[in-house]
Amino acid sequence: MLEIKNLYKRYGKFLAVNNLSLSIAEGEIFGFVGPNGAGKTTTMKIVAGLLKASGGQVLINGINVISHPGKLREKIGYMPDFFGVYDNLKVDEYMDFYAGMYKIPYKDRPAIIDNLLEIVDLSHKRDAYVDSLSRGMKQRLCLARSLIHDPDILILDEPASGLDPRARIEMKEILKQLRTLGKTIIISSHILPELAELCTSIGIIENGQMVACGKVNEIMQQLTHKRIIKIRLLDKMEELIRILQEQPDIHNIFEKTDEVEFEFDGDDIRLSQLLKQIMEKDVLLTAFHEKEGNLEDIFMKITKGGE
Ligand SMILES: Nc1ncnc2c1ncn2[C@@H]1O[C@H](COP(=O)(O)OP(=O)(O)O)[C@@H](O)[C@H]1O
Ligand SMILES: [Mg+2]
Repeated sequence: MLEIKNLYKRYGKFLAVNNLSLSIAEGEIFGFVGPNGAGKTTTMKIVAGLLKASGGQVLINGINVISHPGKLREKIGYMPDFFGVYDNLKVDEYMDFYAGMYKIPYKDRPAIIDNLLEIVDLSHKRDAYVDSLSRGMKQRLCLARSLIHDPDILILDEPASGLDPRARIEMKEILKQLRTLGKTIIISSHILPELAELCTSIGIIENGQMVACGKVNEIMQQLTHKRIIKIRLLDKMEELIRILQEQPDIHNIFEKTDEVEFEFDGDDIRLSQLLKQIMEKDVLLTAFHEKEGNLEDIFMKITKGGE
């Protein structure tokens, strides 16, 4: 169980994290979403014990990370949002270096490293120089090294950022696989839909504050209690608008050239009656459907953008 309570971080006068609280149960995959500059990296570094908070608490199974950073080091794996330069270091030497940092006995290292390189699909690159790897491979290597000491909690700061579409998909597949290892995972992104299918719950942060937090479907429901219906047709737009305006359960009609969107309070029976009524006018209708709750829309609605 990971709990953040009333966390603050100031950089000089600037308040980067502002009274942030959240709790993440064991085995959960928590998506930490927010625009650039929202305070994701700052929060994650504090949780990883790499940055000092200005106030508040971070508790892991009840132990405060802020007052006992060393105690929790072995419980947390952290994948930073950038990958350093490793002159003349090969992939397996890189892994061995981090194994050493976590004091993993020499005899155990080959099996651990083999297994992790397998998970991130880099077994074939173990003798390659780290600096020669593609960006996607470097990210995967970085993920492998954050797992080297078999941590209970994994903190991944934008693992898919800067990757091309193919490398993003590969990363996503690996992250899905990690779910089965039963670890608690916190993963950040500035792109909400990217996290939605992976995560059990999400927190949306803006200007250092949590604006929404909970199970993915709960947040969707909270934010999209209205049904939005979309109609597209090739003629008689004025007639359609007139019909819509007469309905008591239709509000906020929004008209584009060949399309109309509106909020609808009625049930499915009412919706089918409406469709029938429209078709009786003999219109050339090409689409009549309910807009799916779109995560990207929700995200845009509740965050104003940090830059
Ligand atoms: N070392 C620092 N000194 C001063 N300001 C910083 C420092 N690190 C981050 N910030 C500022 O704190 C805010 C949050 O940054 P960050 O945690 O990196 O956000 P995110 O990871 O969500 O993009 C930003 O406005 C950033 O400019
Ligand atoms: Mg960041």
